Amino acid sequence: EKGNHRHFMGKEIHEQPEVVGRTLAHYVDLSQGRVALPEALPFDFRDLSRLSITACGTAYYAGLVAKYWFEKLARLPVEIDVASEARYREPPLERDGLTLVISQSGETADTLASLRYAKAQGQHTLAVVNVPTSTIAREASAAVPTLAGPEIGVASTKAFSCQLTVLLCLAIAAGRARGTLSAEAERGLVDALITVPGLMADALQREGEVEGLAREIAKARDVLYLGRGTAYPMALEGALKLKEISYIHAEGYAAGELKHGPIALIDESVPVIVIAPHDAIFEKTVSNMQEVAARGGRIILIGDAKGAAAAGLDTMATVTMPDLDPVVAPIVYAVPIQLIAYHTAVFMGKDVDQPRNLAKSVTVE
Ligand code: M6R
Repeated sequence: EKGNHRHFMGKEIHEQPEVVGRTLAHYVDLSQGRVALPEALPFDFRDLSRLSITACGTAYYAGLVAKYWFEKLARLPVEIDVASEARYREPPLERDGLTLVISQSGETADTLASLRYAKAQGQHTLAVVNVPTSTIAREASAAVPTLAGPEIGVASTKAFSCQLTVLLCLAIAAGRARGTLSAEAERGLVDALITVPGLMADALQREGEVEGLAREIAKARDVLYLGRGTAYPMALEGALKLKEISYIHAEGYAAGELKHGPIALIDESVPVIVIAPHDAIFEKTVSNMQEVAARGGRIILIGDAKGAAAAGLDTMATVTMPDLDPVVAPIVYAVPIQLIAYHTAVFMGKDVDQPRNLAKSVTVE
């Protein structure tokens, strides 16, 4: 079943151009250059004053990326929390408002409980799920599938990139409905989305480089991931991926938070992985990289050639990513982030498909 891959995780990372392409084909009308949701949703994005998102782990990070997209493209305020907090915090939720839950398995206990709570408050519930027969898919007022296929590796990879793909399509649909996204802007985003599977394939070409880099990361005790904007949740996801399969301590931080604490950790022994596509706030991230470099920190930049040239910094390594529309960057940048964790853990001889203490689906609290 693993084909010519050593691990399910490796296979699933490599499947992404295909499964993201399949997911896109389900949500995009290619001939019209617009998003076309496969079924009508039982609510109208125009009627919402707020969107609440809950999920756990990697699915939560997909939701955090989506917060940026919904707020930017649809001007819809988003509140997001991990499901284990949301369910017990018992937040006030407006009748007829919308709660969005995200789950690969569709069986995560806390996510299911937060969905039930939202329903009891009279909310519409929309689930982004990978297993269409799951409890969450059945109980939500509407479920939209990620077409990632079965994910076996405990570390979520292809489900994550498919979640991002569906969430961006939803944010675009919301933007159109709310009149905040012109037809032209939508066409531009759809054009960018269509290039994503090919760009992910390009990113997979960097695997050899990442493998070399992983040998260095494997020596570290701590690794810091930094990013701004949607690269911030990607930093959180990168750190989670590394810690769950390599057991190296890793933390993700909003780059702007560096000087509010974590900069105290920086020295030559701490690799700092900076996720920075050349977007509108790239310059801000460059100043954070300078702060790291000035303290002897070793920077690994995941960015494009333009950004690397503009930064003009001595990095320990640069994983050069293709040029792209920054809106779709999280989907493509998921690839090097996953490859870094995967190759570090494989090099260290860890069981990447079955990391210690972890279960694929967390059906108990
Ligand atoms: O099945 P779910 O998407 O609801 O699972 C949520 C988390 O348990 C899951 O993403 C977990 O964090 C993974 N091990 C991450 O790689």
